[in-house]
Amino acid sequence: MKFFIDTADLEEIHEAHDMGVLDGVTTNPSLCAKVGVKDFEGHIAKICDIVDGDVSAEVISTEFADIVSEGRNIASIADNVVVKVPLIKDGIKAIKTLSDEGIKTNCTLCFSPSQALIAAKAGATYISPFIGRLDDISSEGMNLIADIRMIYDNYGLETEILAASIRHPMHLVESARMGADVATMPLKVIVGLLKHPLTDIGLERFLADWDKLQETLKK
Ligand code: E4P
Repeated sequence: MKFFIDTADLEEIHEAHDMGVLDGVTTNPSLCAKVGVKDFEGHIAKICDIVDGDVSAEVISTEFADIVSEGRNIASIADNVVVKVPLIKDGIKAIKTLSDEGIKTNCTLCFSPSQALIAAKAGATYISPFIGRLDDISSEGMNLIADIRMIYDNYGLETEILAASIRHPMHLVESARMGADVATMPLKVIVGLLKHPLTDIGLERFLADWDKLQETLKK
């Protein structure tokens, strides 16, 4: 399973990258607004320099011709850029066009299996089902991952399932169980994957016992 970080914050991207487990980055207009990005293309270029893997940068156009031209422009920023396109009719049409040109795409804002199927038919490189936002409205987000996995496997569809809107470590664990290809997470979730109180207690005991041994050896 590939691990992406879901942020436009360069420091967070450096921190996750330094852990040695980062495969890519996803951004969106809200995440760019959160860190006050002024020069969008320059900022995405900086992210692409930090990581070798895929970096999703989202279009803000909603009409076919505009999405395609914005997508081509985003794709020219770096070799590892993926054009993120919303799951609307013009977006699907644009994904087909961009994919036919060899441009990688991430179809975002997916909330149903039917949406995921049509995105794959259009040739999306990634589909981004938003687990947390479904959970937020009392729907079972994880069922969506399972349904998409089954449908894609039924037909050998190669679009990668990118579990998004992950809020806590169990979302990641469940996504892995369901066979998602990628998970994109905020830094706090990536760090949270490591946490276990028994690890901390166990390490404390090992080190204390080692210190005791050193004291005994001195006598
Ligand atoms: C995915 O690519 C989105 O950027 C993201 O996962 C959305 O997460 P949120 O629902 O926590 O905003």
